[in-house]
Amino acid sequence: MTTCITGPLRVLVTGGAGFIGSHTCVELVEAGHEVVVVDDLSNGHAVALDRVGEITGTRPVLEVADVTDATALDSIFRRHTIDAVVHFAARKAVGESTEIPLDYFHTNVGGTATLLASARRAGVRRIVFSSSCSIYGSTGADDLDESAPAAPTNPYAWSKLACEQMIEQACRHHDDLRAVSLRYFNPIGAHPSGLLGEEPHGTPRNIVPYLAQVAVGRRERVQVFGGDYVTPDGSAIRDYVHVVDIARGHVTALDHVDDRAGMQLFNLGTGQGTSVLELRAAFAAAAGREIPYVVTDRRLGDVPRLVANIDAVSHAWGWAPKYDVATMCCDSWRFQELNPDGYRR
Ligand SMILES: NC(=O)c1ccc[n+]([C@@H]2O[C@H](COP(=O)([O-])OP(=O)(O)OC[C@H]3O[C@@H](n4cnc5c(N)ncnc54)[C@H](O)[C@@H]3O)[C@@H](O)[C@H]2O)c1
Repeated sequence: MTTCITGPLRVLVTGGAGFIGSHTCVELVEAGHEVVVVDDLSNGHAVALDRVGEITGTRPVLEVADVTDATALDSIFRRHTIDAVVHFAARKAVGESTEIPLDYFHTNVGGTATLLASARRAGVRRIVFSSSCSIYGSTGADDLDESAPAAPTNPYAWSKLACEQMIEQACRHHDDLRAVSLRYFNPIGAHPSGLLGEEPHGTPRNIVPYLAQVAVGRRERVQVFGGDYVTPDGSAIRDYVHVVDIARGHVTALDHVDDRAGMQLFNLGTGQGTSVLELRAAFAAAAGREIPYVVTDRRLGDVPRLVANIDAVSHAWGWAPKYDVATMCCDSWRFQELNPDGYRR
């Protein structure tokens, strides 16, 4: 294990006003880095960056811009001397991607190509990319290491794989480019301060904000998609990982991005599987109240089981998750209780 970068960097965080991005801003600032956020606020909140400021004492600069807009990105790179890019900005809902696949390709694949080109024009040669376990598709393996074959089952997952391949090819042909792709499993939880959490615009498409809104009575009951999978309780099994652990993974990735030529690729998860019904029960325990649910049809593009093997990242960098599912649920619940209307005070 080697650490090449020890000094502070000025980091451009795309999508930094979103769920994982805002938590990563906290960890980056606390590690001594300077942060500039690019976000179009389509699913993010400027207030989240005020909260990053409350937690760390330093509010990141926010540039409101679309990552598919090359002119805007060029201007941002001209105005800030950037050492590295952490690229979160994307559309991320599996179900929605099956309805509007071309929009997903435009933002996720087009945005990544535009960002890579703009970063290159500005002489920035380090990138950390947000990838996803959905790339693995349904392999039937008990745990998935990075050598498991890619088999995306929906346009969102395909877009993430296309981005990884594009970054990998760019590294092959630009000798100085260094990249890390992090395949997150299912990030949930919230900052332990209760100041930052997951607050999607509109109806939540991820399970935990939905559970939280049912728990406070904003919604009647949660839908569990699929009760007939070949799993112990019939619901799908996922590897839930605390968003703060994922955020710490990005600080570690920046420490190690220069370690090797080309693109490094790692899973970030816990290695523990939890069924959707088990997660509902854990959340109900954290909230101290019942959470009504209904089991409905499977969702197009979903797979029965996705659990990470995290040996590679732990051997290479010593990264390991710190938090269990009970803590993830308690932290999410704290955010919901302290922010019943989300980021609107
Ligand atoms: N949350 C998950 O379950 C999960 C799992 C695996 C991978 N990921 C990936 O992690 C990244 C962050 O996810 P998140 O859960 O924080 O989502 P999020 O929606 O909370 O954050 C994404 C941010 O990007 C911004 N954004 C979207 N399109 C943009 C554009 N064209 N230009 C500029 N900004 C734009 C949004 O406003 C938002 O603030 C995404 O790339 C997602 O695919 C998420």
